[in-house]
Amino acid sequence: MAGLYGVMGYPVKHSLSPAMFAAAFWEYDMDDSYEKFEVSPDNLGDFIKDVRDRPINGLSVTIPHKEAIIRHLDYTDTHAKAMGAVNTVVNKGGKLRGYNTDWVGAKRAIEEVTDVKDKNVLIIGAGGAAAAITYACIQAGSMVTILNRSLEKAVELAERFAGLGAKIDVGKVQDILQYRTNLLVHTTSVGMGADHKSSLVPVEFFRRGLVVFDIVYTPLENKLVRDAKRAGCRTIPGYKMLLYQGEKQFDLWFGKKPRTEKMEEAILRDLTAS
Ligand code: ATR
Repeated sequence: MAGLYGVMGYPVKHSLSPAMFAAAFWEYDMDDSYEKFEVSPDNLGDFIKDVRDRPINGLSVTIPHKEAIIRHLDYTDTHAKAMGAVNTVVNKGGKLRGYNTDWVGAKRAIEEVTDVKDKNVLIIGAGGAAAAITYACIQAGSMVTILNRSLEKAVELAERFAGLGAKIDVGKVQDILQYRTNLLVHTTSVGMGADHKSSLVPVEFFRRGLVVFDIVYTPLENKLVRDAKRAGCRTIPGYKMLLYQGEKQFDLWFGKKPRTEKMEEAILRDLTAS
């Protein structure tokens, strides 16, 4: 029987996940469907009841529900627990299991370009995306420094992972020129959309040999990425984290790998059309 899947968030209007999964389903000639579920925080409990009843077989979970959904689930895997965030739900006969594939996507996107074991990674920002990337880098064996506009949020994020035995340094993004690193990851909304000419990183920071990962992908190339390329840095496209977290979601739902290159084509089609 064809299954029902979808992305749940508030808002979800601009999500690229439906296009990405439609391409994956098409490649395997699957009848399953993938929809957008716009669910406000007040309606989360009722929606979860619906997930069990309809049933909805699998969910991609996005902002603002990644933390709040945990108390509605029957099981949460250890990585998702450590991050305090679930972005994937698998419905197995009415039992809801929560996973986090954001960190898997980030780790794969990074390791495709550079090996960060025992290397320094500088992460700008201290929100949800920064948490997943910090966790990915800890799992990859990196030394992580989190730079944020407000030091308190960086400290909070570092403390969340203190139990994992990793040493995480913190600082202010305004002081970035005092730092040297192998990989720079930018996770804030600066440089997104109409703001694409803004960047938190002074051009002097970039040098040949540095790898730069800006998770902003609208537009595909903003000022930060252009400055980095001009200075001879290698770059990781921001949409790769979305792509590879989706690849892992497909695997959790169906127990097999999707044709990831077809999912990538769908994302790029949407991004270049908008
Ligand atoms: P997400 O969960 O999507 O990663 P978030 O939780 O809203 O997003 O986090 C946004 C991050 O971007 C925060 O680290 C924020 O810094 P503060 O903690 O100081 O607010 C950072 N950020 C947003 N706008 C910024 C700006 N104009 N300059 C510097 N940092 C900014």
